[in-house]
Amino acid sequence: MHIDIITCLPKLVESPFSDSILLRAQKKGLVSVDIIDLRAYATNKHKTVDDYAYGGGAGMVLQIEPIDNCITDLKSKRQYDEVIYMSPDGELFNQAMANQLSLKGNLILLCGHYKGVDERVRQHLITKEISIGDYVLSGGELAAAVVADAVIRLLPGVLNDETSALTDSFQDGLVAPPVYTRPATYKGWNVPEVLLSGHEAKINLWKQEQAIKRTAQRRPDLLE
Ligand code: ADE
Repeated sequence: MHIDIITCLPKLVESPFSDSILLRAQKKGLVSVDIIDLRAYATNKHKTVDDYAYGGGAGMVLQIEPIDNCITDLKSKRQYDEVIYMSPDGELFNQAMANQLSLKGNLILLCGHYKGVDERVRQHLITKEISIGDYVLSGGELAAAVVADAVIRLLPGVLNDETSALTDSFQDGLVAPPVYTRPATYKGWNVPEVLLSGHEAKINLWKQEQAIKRTAQRRPDLLE
């Protein structure tokens, strides 16, 4: 898989891809991620990529021309399955969408900033719009990093058996059961007896029951 993240603030996106699981996934050659500076496609000598909104109103708007030039340039090198715009009014991101995107080959994630992008970008250049939640971030950069992280960890080979994504919350429509590690007793607070029993079938049953109980308590909407 290849992911291009287009942004006018590249530094905001870099660090999640320079450490831990996401870095290892790149080193293993399971994914490549390019962070593309939109300003490199600016068409004026000041290298600006935004302008005032027609009709007035507060805030700057990202212009269509540098974005079109950037996407056209990327498309001359690869074919893309989706050109995604990160936006608070996009489709709400969830595990099912992460699973679907993890089956794709190449993705572009376009980050909006300021008041967003010229509407014609959304009408003509974008195939999908994603929101990571009903709140407004300063830009799409953190949202793009969230989506890329959720997708990359699902690629075969990125996680090992112990950290397998199959046991993640939401993968089976339930939140994950509680986990414990040593010591078995701390300040009189005990690890559930069954987890120390070594009885695999009983442990699995306990985990399943806990997942259902937790989901009912915390996210009853998932059980409906
Ligand atoms: N850009 C600003 N807020 C956002 C959000 N909630 N999701 C995706 N992109 C955004």
